Amino acid sequence: MALVIETERLTLRIRDERDAGWYRELVGERGEDFPTLEDSRARLARFRDLTIETGIGALAICRRAEGDTIGYCALIVGRASLDEPEVAFELLQRFHGHGYATEAAQALVVAAVATGRRRLWSTVGAWNAPSLRVLEKVGFRRHHSVTDDRGEVVYLVRDLQRDRPPDSTTSTLNSR
Ligand SMILES: CC(C)(COP(=O)(O)OP(=O)(O)OC[C@H]1O[C@@H](n2cnc3c(N)ncnc32)[C@H](O)[C@@H]1OP(=O)(O)O)[C@@H](O)C(=O)NCCC(=O)NCCS
Repeated sequence: MALVIETERLTLRIRDERDAGWYRELVGERGEDFPTLEDSRARLARFRDLTIETGIGALAICRRAEGDTIGYCALIVGRASLDEPEVAFELLQRFHGHGYATEAAQALVVAAVATGRRRLWSTVGAWNAPSLRVLEKVGFRRHHSVTDDRGEVVYLVRDLQRDRPPDSTTSTLNSR
């Protein structure tokens, strides 16, 4: 997938060690222990390498006008697969509610179409209304749900065939 994407307000670019500061804050907001700066840098470098190796991964979400970084969006294998990956996104709390996740997720959908992929998935806690709404706004529909030790998880799917130009072939996966 493209590793730099421009949208109306945002630049999405590969997430790496330079993101350690806000990434620590984001992990803290999840209620998990703050990783040290050193651990964060190491973790982000591993993720970056994996992104380059597999062609999918996390992009930092940067606001162009303000010049700051507010979170990330990602294509990940997760509970799905490399050919039909999951979309994920996570923003620092103070940036919620401005349409940024929707703008970033829409750009990821377009980037996934450009790789030749046919479907995307997302798995979200049934309680997570904002995330479910973002996915709905970019064209995902509920597929099924499962209940595990963390509660009900909804699987959503986004068909990408409809976004393709009519004459495109199905053999473009190697352009990842
Ligand atoms: C999910 C998340 C990324 C959304 O980011 P965001 O930038 O605030 O999202 P947007 O502003 O683009 O859209 C949010 C939508 O949810 C709606 N929403 C927010 N809270 C809601 C609630 N409690 N119930 C119903 N809808 C809600 C908003 O009104 C908006 O929809 P609208 O445009 O129709 O009004 C953000 O809440 C987040 O980082 N959460 C923690 C991480 C997470 O849960 N990630 C998802 C795992 S894949």
